[in-house]
Amino acid sequence: MRIDRHPILTFERGREIEFEFDGRRLRGCEGETIAAALHAAGVRVLRESIRLGRPRGFFCAIGRCSSCLMTVNGVPNVMTCITPLEEGMRVETQRTKGTVPDGGHPGGDAPADADGVPIVAWGEAPGESLGDVPLAVVGGGPAGLSAAIAAGRLGVRSVVIDENQTAGGQLIKQTHMFFGSREHHARVRGVDIGPKLLSELEELPVELMLGTTALGLYNDLTLSLLVEGRHRRLSPETIIVATGASENMLAFENSDLPGVYGAGAVQTLMNVHGVVPGDRVLMVGAGNIGLIVSYQLLQAGVEVAAVIEGMPEVGGYHVHAAKIRRAGVPILTSHTIVRAEGETTVTGAKVVEVDESWRPVDGTERRLDVDTICLAVGLTPNVELAFQAGTREAHVRELGGRVAVHGPDLETSIPGLYIAGDASGIEEASTAMLEGRLAGLAAAKRLGAGDPAKIDALVSEAAAGLAALRAGPFGRQPRYGKERMFALKNREGTDESQA
Ligand SMILES: Cc1cc2nc3c(=O)[nH]c(=O)nc-3n(C[C@H](O)[C@H](O)[C@H](O)COP(=O)(O)OP(=O)(O)OC[C@H]3O[C@@H](n4cnc5c(N)ncnc54)[C@H](O)[C@@H]3O)c2cc1C
Ligand code: FES
Repeated sequence: MRIDRHPILTFERGREIEFEFDGRRLRGCEGETIAAALHAAGVRVLRESIRLGRPRGFFCAIGRCSSCLMTVNGVPNVMTCITPLEEGMRVETQRTKGTVPDGGHPGGDAPADADGVPIVAWGEAPGESLGDVPLAVVGGGPAGLSAAIAAGRLGVRSVVIDENQTAGGQLIKQTHMFFGSREHHARVRGVDIGPKLLSELEELPVELMLGTTALGLYNDLTLSLLVEGRHRRLSPETIIVATGASENMLAFENSDLPGVYGAGAVQTLMNVHGVVPGDRVLMVGAGNIGLIVSYQLLQAGVEVAAVIEGMPEVGGYHVHAAKIRRAGVPILTSHTIVRAEGETTVTGAKVVEVDESWRPVDGTERRLDVDTICLAVGLTPNVELAFQAGTREAHVRELGGRVAVHGPDLETSIPGLYIAGDASGIEEASTAMLEGRLAGLAAAKRLGAGDPAKIDALVSEAAAGLAALRAGPFGRQPRYGKERMFALKNREGTDESQA
């Protein structure tokens, strides 16, 4: 399952190490995730669902969906898609909810009850405080890194928190050249943009806290963090939530079978860990992500049986569609998936043609012989942290669902709490970088750093860049969504449950 040769990427794998899986000795590479090592060894079933005992594999590969929870070294509910493999690890298929092991909950020094679970008052973050910092940025993707750079250039000290071991967010797996203007890294591969942003951080007062999950955000701007298995507290003066987005699921029969993966998860497996998801893939969704990931599958030597799309037209750039058609991959528009086949993992897929009302057309159902079904059916903003803090919420369809109400400076309804990038509405890395910059500048201004006139000039420049990016046909939807959002921000105190 490992990729030996790739036209663009070289995989610098860690040393080979041994670990145990359900009593079997397996080999993996140090530093790769447990789920990737298992997949490379041909293991796709990671746990069983609690109520029905159905097999589960991974789905998102970014720590969002809980589909990959396993028992590791006796500790249940470990997210194996983001936990690095270590020598001698004992990994077990998880079949129950799991119980807190001896030694208790990772509650730091908080007083604990008889089961080791920390006793904290409602609304209070557990764990030892990590001290003061003016700005904390949650999420080390293009938005978060750009925010820290913008604030850091004005002398603001910050920490960037990311649960992955590598900063860069979604960029670390994007091997294609970006679209847009040169200023926004057009014709640069996504994988090369992250290191550029990180090199800009080097001279600035920014601390990167990788492998750290923000578990909670309290309305006094206290963050509850999980750092190396312990709860810690951070109470910055300002916070920027730049937590990106999660992939959407699609409801069809057997859609929970291992082998039904999100397109981003497939990218992570292939382009970060150098492991192919399977031998023959059905791609669901012909937007840019579905088309790009299909091409990347071909580059990794995986056969793409077909790309299906429910709409009558391809949604992504035609240049991407043309590339995969030239490689012999059929793109079946007005088609959807009705069933994944297989007992424990995917062995096939049933697809059907649909009419303009998405009703199946009689006699058009057919079976595709595939072992992987890749879903590229949209993203939803990761807003949980902002909502926990109690920000005003609104459903704005054009931004991908429920989002925290924010203004053009990305400040939410809670003073000092900002939201940027895909977490504030689904767009692209180029817009995420500019939004991050705007949020970083706004936080710096609130903190009293730098010359306000200079900050205003930088804000105007970034806002003009955003307007230019949203001026094109693909920007129409987010532009409209943001306009509605800013109007809501102006309407203080109204109930905007449906915008
Ligand atoms: C296949 C594909 C192709 C794309 N192609 C392009 C393109 O050509 N051009 C373009 O401009 N854009 C492209 N994009 C979109 C682009 O990748 C995203 O819009 C961009 O990465 C969003 O940046 P972000 O910083 O908001 O979020 P992300 O890049 O998702 O970063 C968020 C980070 O926050 C971390 N995080 C989340 N929650 C927590 C938490 N609680 N604690 C700690 N860390 C947390 C995540 O692990 C992640 O590292 C593409 C996306 C995909 C999937
Ligand atoms: S949380 Fe691991 S696959 Fe989604």
